[in-house]
Amino acid sequence: METQKEGFGSKIGFILAAAGSAVGLGNIWRFPYLAAKYGGGIFLLTYIILVVTFGFSLMVTEISLGRKTGKSVIGAYKHADKRFSFLGPVAALVPFIITPYYCVIGGWVLKYLVTFVSKDVVASTNDDFFGNFITHATQPTVFFIIYALLTGLIVIFGVEKGIEKVSKILMPVLVALSVGIAVYTLTLPGAGEGVKYYLLPNFEGFTVAKFLKTIVAAMGQLFYSMSLAMGIMVTYGSYMRKQDSIEGSTRQISFFDTLIAILAGLIIVPSVFIFSGGNADQLNAGPSLMFITLPKVFDSMKGGQIVGATFFILVAFAALTSSVSLLETMVSIVSEKFGLKRVASTAVCLLVVFVFGMLSVLGYSVLDTLTIFGMQMLDFFDFISNNVMMPIVALLTCILIGFIVKPKYIEEETTLNGEKFKSKGLYEVMTKFVCPVFMIIILLSGIFVDL
Ligand code: PHE
Repeated sequence: METQKEGFGSKIGFILAAAGSAVGLGNIWRFPYLAAKYGGGIFLLTYIILVVTFGFSLMVTEISLGRKTGKSVIGAYKHADKRFSFLGPVAALVPFIITPYYCVIGGWVLKYLVTFVSKDVVASTNDDFFGNFITHATQPTVFFIIYALLTGLIVIFGVEKGIEKVSKILMPVLVALSVGIAVYTLTLPGAGEGVKYYLLPNFEGFTVAKFLKTIVAAMGQLFYSMSLAMGIMVTYGSYMRKQDSIEGSTRQISFFDTLIAILAGLIIVPSVFIFSGGNADQLNAGPSLMFITLPKVFDSMKGGQIVGATFFILVAFAALTSSVSLLETMVSIVSEKFGLKRVASTAVCLLVVFVFGMLSVLGYSVLDTLTIFGMQMLDFFDFISNNVMMPIVALLTCILIGFIVKPKYIEEETTLNGEKFKSKGLYEVMTKFVCPVFMIIILLSGIFVDL
C-alpha cells in the first residue's frame, strides 16, 4: 500500500527547518574562532563569497535532487544514475557517524545550560569543571541520553507536526536571542576593539600561503555549516512542496546560516577580547572556547549569569534543530529501506545513536585508551566524516551532475513552475569545474594536515 508521502506544509516551514539544520554548533563556536584566527574581515569576506558561489550551487543540487526524485538519499542517487548508486549509501553513512557524537556534544550543552540556569556560574569557571565533567562516566551519559531522546521526540512527531512546528518556533527565538545578546555585548566598555579585530581585515603577516589556508578553512566550515554532502538537504528537499522556489529558498537558508554565524562572532569575539584585556590568544582556544573560556567571560560580566543562561539556551536550540535534521535523515533511510513506520524506525535509529554515542561519551573516561590513528573516538568520527567522506560525496555529486546527467537534470527541477533560474551560468561553472577542483584540494589537505 502506498502511504502518503510526508512533507512540509509551507514554504517558510521548509526554509526554517533547513536553516535550523544549517545553524548549529558550527556557527556558534567554530565560525567565530576561525574568523579570529584567519585575519578577521579577510575570513569573513572569503566565507561570504564561498557561500554565494560554492555553497549555493551545492545546496541547489542537493535540494533539487531530493525534490525531483522524492526519495531519501539512497534512492535519490540511484534514480539519477544507476552507476552512482553507491554514492547514496556513502552519503547516508555520514549522518549515522555524525548524529551520535553530535548528541554527545548536545548533552554537554544541556549540562552548561542547567549549570547556568541553576545559578552555579562560579562552578563552571573552575578550570577543571569541563575536564571533570567529560571524564566522568555517568553524568555525560545521562545528559547525552536526555538530549538524544529530546531529538527523537521531535522526529517521532513527523515532518510537518514535529520538525516544521518546532523550527517555526525555535528559529525566530534563536535569531532574537542572538541579536539581543550581540547588542548587549556591544554595549560593554571596550567592545569596540574586539569588533574591529573581528570585522576589519588584518593583513599583518598575511602571506599567500596563509591566504590559501584561509580559503581551505573557510571551505571546510562552509560544508559543515550548511549541512552539505550528507544527504540532509536531499532528504529535506524530498519533503519540499513542488510550487516553492528552490533558488529563492536556498538564498534564504544561506542568509540565515551566515547571519547567525556573524552574530555569534559579534557575541564571542568582543566578549573574549574584553575579558582577556585585548589578548587575542584566548580566541585560539578552539573547541574549549565555548566550554571553558566563555563561562569565565560570562562570570566576569555584569548580569553574566543571565547572559550565560540565555547564551546556552541559544546554543541548545541551534544544536537541537541540527540533530533533528540528522536523525530525520537516518529515519528516512531506515523507513524507506526496511519499510518501517516512523515510530519504529526512529526507535531503531535512536538505538544506533545510543550505541555509537556511548563510544564517544566513554572515550573520555572508561574507554580513553581506545583510539584510532591516535584520535579519541569523538575526534575520529568527526575527522572521518568531515575530512574524508563529505568531500568525497561532494566531489562525486558534482561529477555526477556536471558530466553524467548534466546540469540540465537539476535545472529542470529549479524551473519547474516556469520560473527563471537566475544563477544558471554560475551554477554550471561551479558544479562542473570550480567545486570539483576545490573538493580535491580540501580532501588532500584535510587528510594530510590533520593526520
Ligand atoms: N550545520 C550544523 C552546524 O553548523 C552542523 C551539522 C552538521 C548539522 C551535520 C547537521 C549535520 O553546526
